[in-house]
Amino acid sequence: MLSLSIHGKELSIPLIQGGMGVGVSLERLAGSVAREGGMGCISTADCGYREENFATDPEGANLKALTEEIEQARAISKGKGMIAINAMVATRQFEQAVRTAVKAGIDAVISGAGLPLDLPGLVPKGAALIAPIVSSGRAIRLICKTWWKKAQRLPDFVVLEGPKAGGHLGFKESELLQNTCRNVLDILSDVKKELQPFEEAAKRRIPVCVAGGIWDRADVTRAKEAGADGVQMATRFIATEECDASQGYKDVLLSASRKELKIIHSPVGMPGRAVVTPMLRRLETEGRIPPLRCSRCIKTCQVNEVAYCITHALIEAVKGNREEGLFFCGSNVDRLTEMSTVHEVVTDLF
Ligand SMILES: Cc1cc2nc3c(=O)[nH]c(=O)nc-3n(C[C@H](O)[C@H](O)[C@H](O)COP(=O)(O)O)c2cc1C
Repeated sequence: MLSLSIHGKELSIPLIQGGMGVGVSLERLAGSVAREGGMGCISTADCGYREENFATDPEGANLKALTEEIEQARAISKGKGMIAINAMVATRQFEQAVRTAVKAGIDAVISGAGLPLDLPGLVPKGAALIAPIVSSGRAIRLICKTWWKKAQRLPDFVVLEGPKAGGHLGFKESELLQNTCRNVLDILSDVKKELQPFEEAAKRRIPVCVAGGIWDRADVTRAKEAGADGVQMATRFIATEECDASQGYKDVLLSASRKELKIIHSPVGMPGRAVVTPMLRRLETEGRIPPLRCSRCIKTCQVNEVAYCITHALIEAVKGNREEGLFFCGSNVDRLTEMSTVHEVVTDLF
């Protein structure tokens, strides 16, 4: 597993840095991972939160910031590796963000938090690699069937995210709570089986990168032995100097133990994994933290009913506000014990 070949393009290491919103993976982390030969990934979710006009014009701020972040990540990467975006289907700006990133010359569009059934229509053939994030064989079959029927396109690669991942999770809350979800490497065999007829039809391989709980070289080897082409990792990159979150965010994760993690309900309509902090305790006792304003982020959000504003909670987290922030992380948070650099992490892995 020394390199990763994706539809004729080559990464010198088989590593994708998972997109982390809001603001946890922007230009600096993505560019630094690419510079090491991997695929760095900018999360488009409210990526303009640092812009002066974000409060009054979040959509405009996000699109302007996205173009600039892609340019800056490219400069940091020194032309090595690849730069991707992670765009969530559940966000209102999904289509606009993908089109903006393609215009800015993004190498790959990775999309999850919903089934990205319309992605081929947003990315002209050859303009950028396209990849869905899935958590089951059924989901990849549906995506491949739809893309093939609508556009005679198939994914250039696939990210398979298992139950140990951070952020939103594509599993039932009850299964996550009872610890009955299947292991990502077991699901991998289903996904590969579903992909096989499509690979035969297209006469090319569709590489699969596994995500969720991948930490060290032994995990990478296990993934390879199970048939994965590469890995996607996120939580381990949070405690790097280059990660775009504040030191406050990194410190919350560095001091958290697995026992302090909780499966939460997200306004996106999916469960998520986060550190228990004062905001989650307040939500437990008060039932609801009414939003103070709306940045129109999630398609299905009903601002008058929603339990809390996820944009506000994630932005407060990335700024390091322990009281009000929602701190997403993967189940391996125990292993995050000291700060490092992207170069050190990559050297340790490959
Ligand atoms: C803080 C945080 C934020 C995340 N945000 C997103 C996101 O915006 N979109 C997405 O598709 N996945 C998101 N993820 C999932 C990661 O991209 C990745 O697939 C997953 O966390 C991998 O597992 P690991 O953290 O155990 O390495 C997030 C994960 C974390 C830890």
